[in-house]
Amino acid sequence: MAIDRFGRNIHYLRISLTDHCNLRCVYCMPEDMTFRPNAELMQDDELIQLVKLFASLGFDKYRLTGGEPTVRAHIVDLVKEIAQVPGVRSLSMTTNGVLLKRLAGPLKNAGLQRVNVSIDTLNPEKFKRITRWGSLQDVWEGVLAAEQAGLLPIKLNAVVVSGYNESDVVELAGLTLEHPWQVRFIEMMPFAGATELQLNQIVTAQQIQERIEAKFGPLQIANGGKLDGEARLFRLSGGLGEVGFISSVTVPFCAACTRARLTADGRLRLCLLREGEVDLLSPLRQGASLDELRQIILDGVWHKPWGHGLADGVIPLNRVMSEIGG
Ligand code: 5AD
Ligand code: SF4
Repeated sequence: MAIDRFGRNIHYLRISLTDHCNLRCVYCMPEDMTFRPNAELMQDDELIQLVKLFASLGFDKYRLTGGEPTVRAHIVDLVKEIAQVPGVRSLSMTTNGVLLKRLAGPLKNAGLQRVNVSIDTLNPEKFKRITRWGSLQDVWEGVLAAEQAGLLPIKLNAVVVSGYNESDVVELAGLTLEHPWQVRFIEMMPFAGATELQLNQIVTAQQIQERIEAKFGPLQIANGGKLDGEARLFRLSGGLGEVGFISSVTVPFCAACTRARLTADGRLRLCLLREGEVDLLSPLRQGASLDELRQIILDGVWHKPWGHGLADGVIPLNRVMSEIGG
């Protein structure tokens, strides 16, 4: 078991499969983003070796992220291999949904259990403005394909940005009236190159909730008031699905954090919003033994930071979001 010095049992690994993406969301990366050369990224066999190591340390919950995980070569085969590693109990993916229409069925067959799809508005023009390159139609068809394939429950993520989509939260929340989906609103977080936008156009979970309640009336607490992962869950009156709030900035959930992250270039990152990382890929390439690698992971986990420092103005500057995976 991997335990940190505060007694938290760290058993959830989020793996960034690539820093590349087929979109350019305004809150995530600049349009002229440059990516890492492939040789710097974990190759398939290296990734599987590391997953086996983590699984042997009690990590049982895995989420594949990016950048955009579905643009990684051989994604279906890779998912299949990861799903077969003993100890991998839960396997899900966070995706922008662009390629899901084609991939949802094959991914499900390969052993993927669930997807979270990012969708920030139901208005096609606004969708294009936020993602720069995206088509809402593609993503919507991707969501339906995921539902059809049984990648359930469907969870939709919306990052809310003032001046872009703050009024769209109402329509997004309204989806849960007719669909048994979880629609989750995420407070925008600042990263490297923290743009004006990330610092000045944050919409808080409370502001989002107020907008939704102004339309639909008071939200009802769901899930017994317990956090689902990082989301506080509610229900619209008469709704089939749930509305969630991920208030990473205004109400951090660090005390209950069970996660670590593996960056696409093979570094263990213990907190999304802290710069500290432990290199695993270099020792792996230099022939470190499995026991040595296990010890490096355990030491890294032990020193996991207590929580982020956004409230004190500490912003992680060494990487952008797409290199860490949300
Ligand atoms: N703040 C919050 N969430 C972000 N994401 C990307 N950039 C940010 C940011 N600055 C989200 C995406 C996706 C997940 C991978 O991370 O919308 O849901
Ligand atoms: Fe790509 Fe996701 Fe970043 Fe948008 S938020 S640019 S979809 S990695």
